[in-house]
Amino acid sequence: MAQINPSILSADFARLAEEARRVEGADGADWLHVDVMDNHFVPNLTLGTPVVESLGRATDIPLDCHLMIEEPDRWAPAYVEAGAGSVTFHAEAAAAPVRLAREIRAKGARASMALKPATPIEPYEDLLPELDMLLVMTVEPGFGGQAFLDIMLPKIRRTRQLIDKHGLQMWLQVDGGVSAATIERCAEAGADVFVAGSAVYGAEDPAAAVRALRRQAAA
Ligand code: DX5
Ligand code: ZN
Repeated sequence: MAQINPSILSADFARLAEEARRVEGADGADWLHVDVMDNHFVPNLTLGTPVVESLGRATDIPLDCHLMIEEPDRWAPAYVEAGAGSVTFHAEAAAAPVRLAREIRAKGARASMALKPATPIEPYEDLLPELDMLLVMTVEPGFGGQAFLDIMLPKIRRTRQLIDKHGLQMWLQVDGGVSAATIERCAEAGADVFVAGSAVYGAEDPAAAVRALRRQAAA
C-alpha cells in the first residue's frame, strides 16, 4: 500500500500543529515528513530537535525526519530521542552508516538512508539489510517546490530490483517534485513511500490531496 508523507517544509512554520492536523484523519498522512537542514549540507536552515519534540506532542501522525545535515553520526540519535519514528541520514554525510543505522534502530526508530541525485545506489547494496528505508532524492535537496528529476527514474528502478533481489521488506521512498503529474511514474518504477510538500500544502484541501495522491500511486 502506497504511503503518502506530506512535507511540512511547505507548511506555515508559525502554525505547525495546525498544519499537521490538516493532514490527519482517516486516509490522511501516513507519516509527517520533517526536513531538517543545517545551512552546511544544504544551503537552507529549518529546525532541530526542540521543534521535532513539540511537533510530536502536537500530532498523532508519526514523524519521518529527513536529516539534510553534516555529521549525522553525531546528531541523528537525538532525533530518535526527540520522538521521530523514522530517521533518514544522507549517505554523502555519514562517516559510518552501518554503525549509525544500528544505533538508530537500537534506540527504537526506523533507520533510513538518503541518496542525492548524483549518488549511485550500487556501492550501498550490501548495506540494504541494515536499513528500514532507502530514500532516492528526485531533486537536489534544500528546497521545496523544485521540478521533479525524471533522470532519477532508472535509479528508483535499480534500487527496487536490489531490494527484491535480497528479499528485503524495506521501503523505497522518493522525495522532491512528487505530485499528481509525477507520482505514477515513481510508483511504476518501484517506489512505495512518497514525500509531497508543495503538492499537499499548496492544495486548497491538503487531506484531499493526500488521498488523491495515494489513489494515483496505487493505480
Ligand atoms: C527537499 C526536501 C523535500 C521537500 C519536498 O530538499 O527534502 O522533502 O519538502 O518538497 P516538494 O514536494 O515541494 O518538492
Ligand atoms: Zn525531505
